Amino acid sequence: MTTTKAIIISNKPTYHSKLVEQKQPTLQSGEVLIRTRYSSVNYKDALAITGKGRILKNFPLIPGIDVSGVIEKSTSPEFEKGQLVLINGCGLGEVYNGGYSGFVAAPADWVVPLPEGLSLKEAMIIGTAGFTAALCLKRMIQMDQTPEKGPIAITGASGGVGSIAIQLFSRAGFEVIAISNKKGFHPQLKKWGATKTMAPSELNFGQRPLEPTRFGGAVDNVGGELLAGLCRHVGLWGNIACVGLASSHELRTTVMPLILRGVSLLGVSSNNCPTILRKKIWEHLGSDWKPSHLMETLDCEVPLEQVVSVSEKMLQRKTKGRIIVSLDQ
Ligand SMILES: NC(=O)c1ccc[n+]([C@@H]2O[C@H](COP(=O)([O-])OP(=O)(O)OC[C@H]3O[C@@H](n4cnc5c(N)ncnc54)[C@H](OP(=O)(O)O)[C@@H]3O)[C@@H](O)[C@H]2O)c1
Repeated sequence: MTTTKAIIISNKPTYHSKLVEQKQPTLQSGEVLIRTRYSSVNYKDALAITGKGRILKNFPLIPGIDVSGVIEKSTSPEFEKGQLVLINGCGLGEVYNGGYSGFVAAPADWVVPLPEGLSLKEAMIIGTAGFTAALCLKRMIQMDQTPEKGPIAITGASGGVGSIAIQLFSRAGFEVIAISNKKGFHPQLKKWGATKTMAPSELNFGQRPLEPTRFGGAVDNVGGELLAGLCRHVGLWGNIACVGLASSHELRTTVMPLILRGVSLLGVSSNNCPTILRKKIWEHLGSDWKPSHLMETLDCEVPLEQVVSVSEKMLQRKTKGRIIVSLDQ
């Protein structure tokens, strides 16, 4: 096959996306060609495809920050035709052509061999969102977060990162408090491992720089007021993994939690995670950290034709868990 379907975003004459027939990319030295089987829709993809966020650095560009598939050609001794692989982040769908295409050409050192315990579909149900949740767990454990320090608050809990973070932290022995605006979805969050669920409006965070401790640590997908509130309520030597900005990129806080309680605010950046750590995290995700309710975490599987509509739904907060894109070829 020399041509394939792809979504392409252009900024001429104005920002827009369209489905096109795309030529198979030619490889540079050290690159591999992946025949895409699945991609996924992450928050960043939704911002990119709808034009609601300035994600793309080059135009025209194929979006999609995740891909799983089969090696079609390789100029690297590390990979051979037929091997099952994945890529998450690494600038795909942001700086370089991404996963919403039948073929992805990429440098071999971005490519992760599919972990033994995962199918190509499961790998994309996890995708960047689940990988990021696992990165939070890794970083927090490295910083001595233990279940004895108290429950982990997870915000934006019904979303891609949140839904998998609940499963990972509960499997690792932590008590999880899932914080979600979707009250009707709270029973599902409990099935995934949350011991308690709350709506953000029920949190009643105080406004003093330090408030009574309620959480051992937190994973925050929302930013703004919610993240600022968590900082005031995390206990001694707890960690807050700062993941997202679904509500706001701002953080108004004081140094008090950091200097008087030893609280650490941990940066989590999946896109440029070092390769060695990236491979280790995927190994965990295919084995001892494999989310226990992975298939239930799938909201829907869509073809390329529906990526725009599902992205709009995501930004309207009408999706739950993960969305994958299937390229039937
Ligand atoms: N740092 C990284 O490497 C990295 C990686 C992946 C994602 N992210 C970021 O993490 C965030 C979550 O990503 P995701 O894939 O989980 O997205 P998602 O599936 O859309 O989930 C986001 C969740 O946040 C809550 N939310 C959305 N808009 C909100 C608002 N305006 N105010 C308060 N809560 C809101 C909703 O949860 P409830 O309805 O349950 O409250 C929503 O389900 C995004 O900001 C994304 O860009 C960062």
